[in-house]
Formats: sequence, C-alpha cells, structure tokens
Amino acid sequence: MKLPQNLIRIGKHFATFDVWKQQVYDEQIVVRGGKRYRLWNPRKSKLCAALHKGLKFLPLDRGTKVLYLGIASGTTASHISDIVDKEGIIYGVEFSPRVIRDLMLVCKKRKNIAPILGDARIPAEYAHLVEEVDVIYEDVAQPDQIEILMRNAEAFLKKRGWVMIAVKARSIDVSKQPKQIFKECRKKLEEMFEIRAELRLDPFEKDHAFFVGIMK
Ligand SMILES: C[S@@+](CC[C@H](N)C(=O)[O-])C[C@H]1O[C@@H](n2cnc3c(N)ncnc32)[C@H](O)[C@@H]1O
Repeated sequence: MKLPQNLIRIGKHFATFDVWKQQVYDEQIVVRGGKRYRLWNPRKSKLCAALHKGLKFLPLDRGTKVLYLGIASGTTASHISDIVDKEGIIYGVEFSPRVIRDLMLVCKKRKNIAPILGDARIPAEYAHLVEEVDVIYEDVAQPDQIEILMRNAEAFLKKRGWVMIAVKARSIDVSKQPKQIFKECRKKLEEMFEIRAELRLDPFEKDHAFFVGIMK
C-alpha cells in the first residue's frame, strides 16, 4: 500500500504526522523516530474507517488542494490537514453556524484549512472563495448527496481530479435495503466518475459506504 508521506501505520492503527502541533479531539499522541504523530480514530472518521476496511491508497499527499463538503468541526479534516501539510489547502464548506464556530478553533492553528460558511448545494455561494482543486471529499448525510458532489465537481474539480464520498444509506431512503441504495448511488456516480474503490464502513459506521473515484 502506498501511503502519503505524512501517514504511517503503527501496528493496527493509522497516524498522521502532527504538522501543526495540535490535538483536535481526544486522539492519542505518539512519538516515533523523534516525530509527533496523532493516532487516527476509525470510529470518529469515515476516511480512517475506509483505510481500516481495506482502502489501499489515498489521493492525498503534501500539496494536495481539497474541497471538503460537510467539514463539521474538523475531526477528519484535521488529519487531512496533516497529510496535505503546509503546501496544501482544504476549503471546508459547512452550513451549520454552530458547528463552524468549533471549526474556527481548529483553523486558528491549522493555517491550511479555510472555513466557509455555506450550503454545499449551491456552489455559486462560495465560488469566489475556492480555486480549482485536486480532490473533493464529501460527507454531508443528505438525500441528494450524489447530486451535491456532481455539482461541486463540475464547478471546482480539475480534469481527472479525485472524489471521495461517504454515503449514508439512511439519509437517502430508510425503507430500502442499504445494498440497493449503494448500487443506485454507484450507478449515478458512474455517469461522471470512474469508481476506483467501493467499501462498506460497517462496523465502524452502520449502513455507510465509501466510494473513491476519478473524474471521467
Ligand atoms: C456527518 S457530519 C461530517 C463529519 C465530518 N466529515 C468528519 O468526519 O469530521 C455532516 C456535516 O455536514 C454538514 N452538512 C449537511 N448538509 C450540508 C450542506 N448542504 N452544506 C454544507 N454542510 C452540510 C452538517 O452540518 C454536518 O456538520
């Protein structure tokens, strides 16, 4: 498995190099080879859960530009912020003012996260703040989560750029089997992206799937 430079394995765990010297949630700090790392908790981050479930690569490394839809208070984003390092940037869109207040505390130190209070359904709201990006990461738990991703990819994703999306079946339709929902989501995603990985996140996240794709 080819991991980004700032991501290491410690036994069964994954950990990111603590670029910003900042603990963000209750993650454990460990020292390896004289460097500080933050252990990444798969129960608190779907991206880490995807790694534990067998995702073999990440389209992220030093210098990557990321648009993050549904950044919340920055738990997962803080690890991406370590991975993309000081040369990279995360444009983090979040529509809850309460949640973005917590994110602001994380951004004070992490100079590579640009918090944006906005609705990911309306890319025009923040188009003046975001440049073309290498990767879009989405975790919004909304019924129209696939359409939101496509709209943002059209607006901001570079040619052959990558997308990663955590799909929550229950947000789409509680009456259908998750398996059926994931099949329908994949079909929609394939209109715009080549799917390079599809994983179920159980038992870390119930009824969630994770897709990684590249823009056609
Ligand atoms: C499951 S949480 C994200 C957790 C986060 N990705 C993490 O791993 O740290 C989903 C977040 O998406 C936000 N959200 C939902 N719909 C949104 C929208 N249309 N635009 C922006 N943010 C949205 C919610 O307010 C919530 O904070």
